[in-house]
Amino acid sequence: MRSLLFLSLVSASFALQLPFKVPFFQSTVPPEDDEPVRGTPKIAIIGAGAAGSSAAFWISKAQERFGVDVEVDVYEKTSRIGGRSLTVYPHGNDTFEPVELGASIFVKANKNLWRAAQEFNLTLRDLSKEDNDLGIWDGEQLLLNGIIDKLVADMLKQYSTLYTADSPKWDNITDLAHSFGWKNLIESTGAEFFTSNGVSKQYVFELIEAASRVNYGQNIDSIHALEAACSIAANGASQIEGGNWQIFERFLNHSRANVFTDTKVTRITQKESKSRPWVVHSDKGPTGYKAVILAALFHQTDIELPSALASQIPEQPYVHLHVTLLTTTSPNLNREYLALSPNEKVPSMLLTTYDGVRQGRKAPEFNSISYHGKINEDEWVVKIFSESPVEDKWLQSLFNDQVGWVHRAEFDAYPKLPPTSSFPPVKLDHGLFYVNAFEPFISTMETETLASRNVVDLLLNEEFSSSICGPRISGSTKDAAAPDSDFVFGWDC
Ligand SMILES: Cc1cc2nc3c(=O)[nH]c(=O)nc-3n(C[C@H](O)[C@H](O)[C@H](O)COP(=O)(O)OP(=O)(O)OC[C@H]3O[C@@H](n4cnc5c(N)ncnc54)[C@H](O)[C@@H]3O)c2cc1C
Ligand SMILES: *[C@@H]1O[C@H](CO)[C@@H](O)[C@H](O)[C@H]1NC(C)=O
Ligand SMILES: *[C@@H]1O[C@H](CO)[C@@H](O)[C@H](O)[C@H]1NC(C)=O
Ligand SMILES: *[C@@H]1O[C@H](CO)[C@@H](O)[C@H](O)[C@H]1NC(C)=O
Ligand SMILES: *[C@@H]1O[C@H](CO)[C@@H](O)[C@H](O)[C@H]1NC(C)=O
Repeated sequence: MRSLLFLSLVSASFALQLPFKVPFFQSTVPPEDDEPVRGTPKIAIIGAGAAGSSAAFWISKAQERFGVDVEVDVYEKTSRIGGRSLTVYPHGNDTFEPVELGASIFVKANKNLWRAAQEFNLTLRDLSKEDNDLGIWDGEQLLLNGIIDKLVADMLKQYSTLYTADSPKWDNITDLAHSFGWKNLIESTGAEFFTSNGVSKQYVFELIEAASRVNYGQNIDSIHALEAACSIAANGASQIEGGNWQIFERFLNHSRANVFTDTKVTRITQKESKSRPWVVHSDKGPTGYKAVILAALFHQTDIELPSALASQIPEQPYVHLHVTLLTTTSPNLNREYLALSPNEKVPSMLLTTYDGVRQGRKAPEFNSISYHGKINEDEWVVKIFSESPVEDKWLQSLFNDQVGWVHRAEFDAYPKLPPTSSFPPVKLDHGLFYVNAFEPFISTMETETLASRNVVDLLLNEEFSSSICGPRISGSTKDAAAPDSDFVFGWDC
């Protein structure tokens, strides 16, 4: 039940405001090197999740199209590709379908992931066809019992300009937000924004809060309105059969990058050199690069940066999330727990609101509980998100003493997203870029691929006078495709 659409309940204020004002794609000639260039210029990418794997893919597009001569090394501290996108097998048994443990859903408006699924022949599973009966729980009573409706997205129109040939490029996310007419969205809480635009309090504090809690573990009066809007459900919610991480593996396999798994970067330093000014330190020893793309949340990397650079990245609190996957032979949740009468339908997807607490009642013990299909004739997979660990005893009571396998995981899942007017810098220094600066703005797999596309364009422009779609000045294209066409910038150019 996650949606990456930008939903708009209020349309008029989101008019397109291009051309974008950030100066970009000046035809600069790279400075003369003061030392002999030893071999091909190298770029390091740190992290092999959505951001890092797509960055390698975008660079490879420029290599294929324009022969940009560069060698790419991807460093990944774990043994897997995908980062926060990962799967586990029920009962730890690979004869069952794997289940998403982290990032699980994207939508058709997420054109990069959608396109990747098609190009890489991965099978999309349409989750909107798997009817879920939604219930919203305030800790003591069930507020709503029905199927969530699609809400029309005008803001999506603005968002979709990011896939056109005229897509803005940005080195400052605040400026990007302003150019999109989204100032109010980032500077207000979801509650302030939606209520001040005439949405009823009940709708905001029950329905929209349920969405912000399941998607971002944050209440509607603390999360900024843009991310709240992103979390409202939409049609076409899908995932890749076998795991979304396969997209990211394909990105890397289709790029020409060298991928070093089980290789943690510990430090980045600078040296006097125009061809290799950045030194990446890892188990492989120090290696010099022309440019470095940091594709992980900086405060989660443990990487030591020169203090003048580190100090540019503000402190970042995260939502610490407990994810519990389990199997149960109980076809539904315990009725008594939900105080339902025998003839009332038990929801198979239970979201929560914090509104009970605001009215002096008790807090829900979880953020969401959802049934995720069967692995056997009479055994279902269930996923629970919560702020604290859930105990076995509580699980047994919730599932009528019919719990089988249980798998617990914890994540610093996403940045806390309070209203703000400032974001981390996209470019930390000449040749040092930070993809995940985008996450306090919007945190999804797709937007990480957009953020990496932007960073790769900035980098190629700065260091190679090129870009993913060739050297040109932003906003000069006359033949920009309509936002709703199949054209996807970066793929089709
Ligand atoms: C439980 C959960 C549910 C979510 N649900 C969704 C969803 O349904 N849809 C959606 O779109 N998004 C969802 N998200 C958010 C989504 O996972 C992220 O926005 C996205 O995956 C971030 O990708 P990334 O590549 O930027 O970062 P990450 O996926 O975190 O990748 C960073 C990579 O860098 C590596 N790394 C870190 N430090 C170092 C180092 N020092 N050296 C080398 N490598 C390093 C890490 O091991 C990791 O592989 C969810 C997240 C969580 C946790
Ligand atoms: C895995 O599950 C299958 C049934 O799907 C079962 O036959 C097999 O014994 C299981 N393997 C293990 C190691 O438990
Ligand atoms: C995907 O499948 C099509 C048709 O079967 C094939 O032509 C194409 O090469 C495949 N692409 C990849 C990346 O495997
Ligand atoms: C991608 O490359 C890795 C490493 O070479 C390999 O293990 C994996 O099987 C490849 N995946 C695909 C789908 O080709
Ligand atoms: C982005 O631009 C705004 C002004 O529009 C400025 O206040 C802010 O400091 C800039 N942010 C970064 C990270 O440079």
